[in-house]
This record gives sequence, C-alpha cells and structure tokens, in this order.
Amino acid sequence: MPNSARIDTARLQPHNGPMQPTIAVLDFGSQYCQLIARRVRENHVHSRIFAPGVKSDALRKQNVVGIILSGGPASTYDRGAPTCDPALFDMGLPVLGICYGMHVGCELLGARVHASQCREFGRTALIISHPDPLLSHVPPETTVWMSHGDIVSELPGDFTPLAATPTCPIAVVRHAKRPFWAVQFHPEVTHTAHGGQILRNFLYDICGCKPVWRADSMIEQSVAAIRERVPADARVICGLSGGVDSSVTAALVSRAVGERLTCIFVDNGLLRLDERNRVEATFRGHFKIDLRVIDAADRFLAKLAGIADPQEKRRRIGHEFISVFAEQATTIPNARFLAQGTIYPDVIESGVSEAGTAAGIKLHHNVGGLPREIGFELVEPLRDMFKDEVRTVGELLGLPDELLWRHPFPGPGLAVRIIGDVTRERCDLLRQADQIIIEELVEAGWYRKVAQAFGVLLPVASVGVMGDGRTYAGQSVIAVRAVETTDFMTADWAHLDPTVLSQISSRIVNEVKGINRVVYDISSKPPATIEWE
Ligand code: XMP
Repeated sequence: MPNSARIDTARLQPHNGPMQPTIAVLDFGSQYCQLIARRVRENHVHSRIFAPGVKSDALRKQNVVGIILSGGPASTYDRGAPTCDPALFDMGLPVLGICYGMHVGCELLGARVHASQCREFGRTALIISHPDPLLSHVPPETTVWMSHGDIVSELPGDFTPLAATPTCPIAVVRHAKRPFWAVQFHPEVTHTAHGGQILRNFLYDICGCKPVWRADSMIEQSVAAIRERVPADARVICGLSGGVDSSVTAALVSRAVGERLTCIFVDNGLLRLDERNRVEATFRGHFKIDLRVIDAADRFLAKLAGIADPQEKRRRIGHEFISVFAEQATTIPNARFLAQGTIYPDVIESGVSEAGTAAGIKLHHNVGGLPREIGFELVEPLRDMFKDEVRTVGELLGLPDELLWRHPFPGPGLAVRIIGDVTRERCDLLRQADQIIIEELVEAGWYRKVAQAFGVLLPVASVGVMGDGRTYAGQSVIAVRAVETTDFMTADWAHLDPTVLSQISSRIVNEVKGINRVVYDISSKPPATIEWE
C-alpha cells in the first residue's frame, strides 16, 4: 500500500474567489454534521454541507477537493437508510467516512456492517496497528469518543484495518485502491484527544488543502459579489433589527454599495430598553448609513390590544411588520434589492440548502422575515457563514462588541415575554426589569457565559406586605430566564451564582415600581422552550 496519501495537489492552489477549494460534508443526519463543517473551517479550509445523495457533477462545480461522510442515526441495513452515490468513490477525491459515514463507504466498497455485540458510547482507547498519513502525529494509544451500535465486519482484501478499540476491531480503516479512509469514532468532538490532528491530516496531507480560508476573506468576496449583482442605478434596502445578523449584513452591504443602501428600523414599541438609540448611534452616527427609523409603536400596540394568544400575537406582529416595511419600501426610488441576514445554519435548518437529512428542523419563528411576493431580489451576504464567522466579519467591519455579542432577541420582542395582554405600561415595566437583569449579568461577568437571558412578565397579581397589611394591588411578578445552549434547540437553565440572582431580585423590587416578586426559571429545553410563549 502506498504510504503517501497526497492526491492531485496541483489544482488545489489557494485562492479567494467563489470557487475556493472546498471540503464537502455529506449530511447523513448526525447532530454533529454542522460541527464537522465548522471544524474544517476552523482549520482555515472552506467547507459546505451537502445532501447525502449529491451527485459528483454538483461537487465538481463547487470545486470540492475532499469529501467527509458524516455520522447519522440510521443503520445501513435499515430499509430506506440513507446512502451516497457510489460514483463519488470514482472521482479520485479523498473521502473520509465518520461513524455511519464509515459504514456507508465501507459497504459500498464491499465490506459488511452489522449490529455489534457491544455498543460503545463515550470515551475509549484506540490502539493504532499500522502507521498511516491519516494517523500521523497521533500516539500509538490515544482516547477517542464513540457513539455507535453497528460495526464494520468482514473486510475484503482491498481494505487495511489501521486501528482498533477493545470492543471494535475495525475502528480505523483504509482502502488500498481508492482514496477512502474511515473512522468509527468522532474526530470532530473535543473528547477525542487527537481528533483535531486527524482532521488536519486529512485536510492538509491527504486532500492537499492549504490553511488559507478565513472569515475575513469573505468580506472581499461578498463585497465583490454584491457589487456585481446590484447595478449602479439600483438601491438596496435592509430591515435592521439591531441583532447581529442584520447589523453585519447592513455593514457589509454598505461597504459594497455605499450610499445606495437604505436601512429601515421599525420601532414596534416591543423593543428592549435603549435598543433604538443604540441602532441609531451605530448606523447613523458611526457608519453614516441612510437609516430610517419608523415610529410604529402605536400601530403595533393597537393590533395587540386584548390579544393573549401567543401565536396570534406573532401573526399580528408579523403582518404589521410587513405592512410597515412595504409602505416604506415603496417610497424609496429604485429600491429593487432587499438585503437579508440569513446565515448558514438558517439555510441548512430550513431545508433549502444542498443539505438534506438533518434539515427541516427549525421552520419556525419567521417574524421579521418578508414574504417573497414583496417583490425584491434578495441579497444575502451571510448565507455561507456560521454565527461565529458572522461575528468575526462584524468585528472586522468595525461593529461594536456589545452589538456583536448581544443575546438573540425574538422578532415579536417583548410581546412574547409579556404573558397575557400587551400594553404600553406592561412593556415599560418589563423593559426596566429586563435591563436590570442584563446589567447585573454584565457586571458579574455572566452575560457572555449564557446564551440568552431576559425577564418575563407574568400575569399574576402577587401578594405583598405594605405596613402591617397584605396587599394585592397592582403588584406583578417577573420571571428571570437564563439559559446555556449552543444551538437553541436544546438548552439548560444557567446555574447562576446566587449572589447575582439576589442582586437582580433586590434591584428589581426596589427600582421597578409595580413588581414585588422575582422568580428564577429552572426549566430546561425540552420540555420547556426558551421563551415562555
Ligand atoms: P424557543 O422559545 O422556541 O426559542 O425555545 C428558541 C430561540 O428562538 C427564539 N424565538 C423567536 N425568534 N421569533 C423570533 O425571531 C419568534 O417568534 C421566536 N420565538 C422564539 C428564542 O428567543 C430563542 O432564541
């Protein structure tokens, strides 16, 4: 077996154009698929996620120089189990199968897969039996992280096993005639001690990639692409929400088309304290962008009067937002393009990308989104970026840290954090309490440790003591919610320091007139959601 694994590096020279060398990650439904794609990018190689059935032609068009087959929940012997196009193994490109991806690749190349006697979940020892470029700089015995019930058995002679664990004799394997490697464990998770090294071996030594891709190279690319797309007589409009994605989009589009960008910020009366001032200071003050701030609080609050049902609140707010936005848009001459802050996980999760099986999970919460019928051509410069890359780009464009690290805020805003009727007074009450929560978390160094934190105003009249008597008059309860999560699909309640909680509580009851009780939400998602409504 040749020990050199390098394949055809001549045409893999780095460049920053749209056809940059790309690693394709085929999505067999693993929760780690996005993580694999991110790990590749962390090593400065561009990656994209594709559906498992993607054809070789489509990959060639994207300048794919290596393929990773992700893990997945299925067994290859299940009826309808996902597989990939066998022609991918004839492309001459290196392929790395991970867990289920190992089973798919090995089976297509003649091996057998069956249910293991010993399922393996968690850390285990990997013993390397054969040196190989995939395993170079990995010690002969190392720790890997496993999560599987099936194993590869019965290897035909074209395969060489490279490493084993105590219960999995074929934990790493290589094909002799095709550039195919496979690992039973998960190199993408940090519990695998040398997982990063194994991925780098695959990317640099086997695929011949150079570590040249950087989030900042996306700025030049995006700017060039936007300039090419938007003719000199057309204007772009952008709905600015104050969140990271729309802010970075605006800054990027502004760099590309300058004064031909108009941003529209709708103050719906449901925003956090000072949100509007911050946005004005950043975009009008610092970036000198043509920013229209629309004072629409009365309109939104009128639509919400007497509405307690959360979905109805969302529907009405969404509807009103579209009306306000469309009215404004018609007053901007030549506004033919709409810039939107769609990011890569949105594309994957909404199921419209090349990705497949794990897609379609999160088709929710589209408030603030605009329907296609509104008739604009879309400019979505962040479509290819993960959240941390969006932040890096934002930083390089000069957006302030506090904006880039702001916790996400739902489109319907405080309306879904005021349980029951939404009135101006209740919005004011919640805004003040929420601000105290955030201030205290920042002060105690907790803000960046939690993914999202906020207050919720409950529709409960809370009893209190005033003088010698018990009183129910007009006193409300605030629930404090703080969660830790990376994907927002599952979340744990944050184990905040009790002194922070006590400081939050005492400030709220002392400073916010109308609130005499503060409770802390200790529910995880699932079964609870992050928001209360
Ligand atoms: P849940 O409450 O579903 O929230 O656990 C997950 C994430 O989605 C946000 N969220 C929304 N975002 N419109 C939005 O733009 C909505 O209607 C909406 N509801 C929830 C929530 O803040 C969290 O980040």
